[in-house]
Amino acid sequence: MTGDALAAAERRLAAAGVPTPRNDAELLVRHVTGWGRGELLLRRARPMPADAGDRLEPLVARRAAREPLQLILGSVGFRHLDLLVRPGVFLPRPETEVLAGEAADRTPAGGVVVEPCTGTGAIACAVASESAPGRVLATDVSAEAVALARENAARCGVAVEVGRGDLLGPVPRALRGHVDVLVCNPPYVAEAELAGLEPEVRDWDPVAALVSGPTGNEVVERLVDAAPRWLRPGGWLLLELDPARAAVTAARCRVAGLTDVGVVRDLAGRDRIVLARHGMRSSSAGAI
Ligand SMILES: C[S@@+](CC[C@H](N)C(=O)[O-])C[C@H]1O[C@@H](n2cnc3c(N)ncnc32)[C@H](O)[C@@H]1O
Repeated sequence: MTGDALAAAERRLAAAGVPTPRNDAELLVRHVTGWGRGELLLRRARPMPADAGDRLEPLVARRAAREPLQLILGSVGFRHLDLLVRPGVFLPRPETEVLAGEAADRTPAGGVVVEPCTGTGAIACAVASESAPGRVLATDVSAEAVALARENAARCGVAVEVGRGDLLGPVPRALRGHVDVLVCNPPYVAEAELAGLEPEVRDWDPVAALVSGPTGNEVVERLVDAAPRWLRPGGWLLLELDPARAAVTAARCRVAGLTDVGVVRDLAGRDRIVLARHGMRSSSAGAI
């Protein structure tokens, strides 16, 4: 019975310490049956097709072993996009949807958007699809990430140029001083923090996507320092970071000569994004 299979999956996931066992069990049942949420609720008392039951078991086992749900399902919703995900490439997080929205809101028609550290291409694809930029460029050091970001851009039907290399290295030098939006969710975990992360993160996200160095600030600092060279006057820098590092990053933005420095909270109310502007002096609500 579907209800029995669902309850059994939920119990197994809960026993394995999965933080959201009910939600994950429902999504796995829906994945093997093809049912929508309403259908699942209606059909709970009815049998699942036998082959669906057979296919459910190994998926529940993978989730019980703390493999991320998104990798088992093979895709993830990000804003209004459905993005492919795979092992070896950082999984997009819900808090990053806020960053992508803030970047899209600040992208002028025909403007240039640059996203270093693109991973699946989530931010670049969302900005390209939600605004009307002239050019969107994304970079990553990981060959797997570059390939997946290109696939996702094609899947989403957006034009994103993806280059492999260190931060802004693959971006043409001719764009220095002409970038309207520089947006990034960089690695921001300190080396010593890695062991304390949840198994889904520690064991599945690539270390290079998480750890930036001994302090966790290394990549953020490089981007802040580079921003004045790349942004046009009035252009925006937007960085996702560890809430504990928001104040120190905002201070570094001011030292770098950026203005309108502010902080945006994530869906859980934590200081998650630092944003700053190049060469436009004015005060803004929420500035710190
Ligand atoms: C935290 S993940 C963010 C991925 C994606 N932007 C997102 O929000 O889902 C960081 C990404 O930065 C890449 N990365 C790490 N160091 C880099 C560097 N120096 N230059 C370019 N990319 C880098 C990693 O391969 C990884 O894909």
